[in-house]
Amino acid sequence: MSKHESPLALVTGASSGIGEATARAFARQGWRLALCARRKERLLSLRPALRELGSPHVLVHGLDVRDEAGVKAFAETVLAEQGCPDVLVNNAGLARGTERVDNAEGTAWREMVETNIFGLLYLSRAFLPAMEERKKGQIIMIGSVAGWSGYAGGSVYCATKAGVHKICEALRLETLGMGIRVSSIDPGMVDTEFSEVRFWGDKEKASQVYEDFEPLHAQDIADCVLFVATRPPHVNIDRLLVMPTAQADPWHVARSPKKQS
Ligand SMILES: NC(=O)c1ccc[n+]([C@@H]2O[C@H](COP(=O)([O-])OP(=O)(O)OC[C@H]3O[C@@H](n4cnc5c(N)ncnc54)[C@H](OP(=O)(O)O)[C@@H]3O)[C@@H](O)[C@H]2O)c1
Repeated sequence: MSKHESPLALVTGASSGIGEATARAFARQGWRLALCARRKERLLSLRPALRELGSPHVLVHGLDVRDEAGVKAFAETVLAEQGCPDVLVNNAGLARGTERVDNAEGTAWREMVETNIFGLLYLSRAFLPAMEERKKGQIIMIGSVAGWSGYAGGSVYCATKAGVHKICEALRLETLGMGIRVSSIDPGMVDTEFSEVRFWGDKEKASQVYEDFEPLHAQDIADCVLFVATRPPHVNIDRLLVMPTAQADPWHVARSPKKQS
């Protein structure tokens, strides 16, 4: 199979967690890949494994999705070297801190809004014209259960993920009749580096989030991305809310404390 015969998936935030698992899932199906994240060294070390799994071509790029000019340059490189992505997975994102509004300093608010909202808007804008021209294409956003229910200490993170739904709704209307599909996949708790980032690198605090119950694994969400990406062209999954069996909403988790010996 030549490198231009297999479909192309572009995955943002592929250096860890859901993004990395998604890259592996597409690689196993023989898709070409364009990957970005700020930690390019991680993408470079992941690349041989992705080739081994079956991806015929893997482009990696160090990118901060908040960098508007950087996103434009990345998109130009992808379009020139690999063509238009069949699927754009806007996965890069983060929660930072658990500040309540009344004592928030505000820096983290900006980081979340710029990453979780502006980032996916810049990426989507960069590839929509090529998708429109081809009359096909798919944009899959990684949202969150936080976009469905707010929780104390999560105001801005929840707002960004609720915003993802509104952006999807607008995009579905803006691209209606153009053969373009737009979806969001909204996980509950997934055991990734997410909580470590949220707690500014505090591994112990982060690990407590996933204690005494089985959270989702990154692979579970990658499976969903692949499912959504491989439906026939006339099928669009608008939204998929995916929870661990032991979690009912952002704060209600059925934990089973370890037995004391
Ligand atoms: N884990 C959960 O419980 C959970 C639940 C619901 C939704 N989500 C969503 O799932 C998505 C992936 O998170 P994850 O759980 O896989 O966490 P993760 O392991 O921390 O991965 C986050 C990815 O996003 C990238 N990223 C963050 N900021 C970026 C930026 N400014 N520019 C480019 N890349 C950036 C990171 O790469 P670099 O640091 O190398 O840039 C990393 O690859 C996020 O949108 C998150 O909101 C996660």
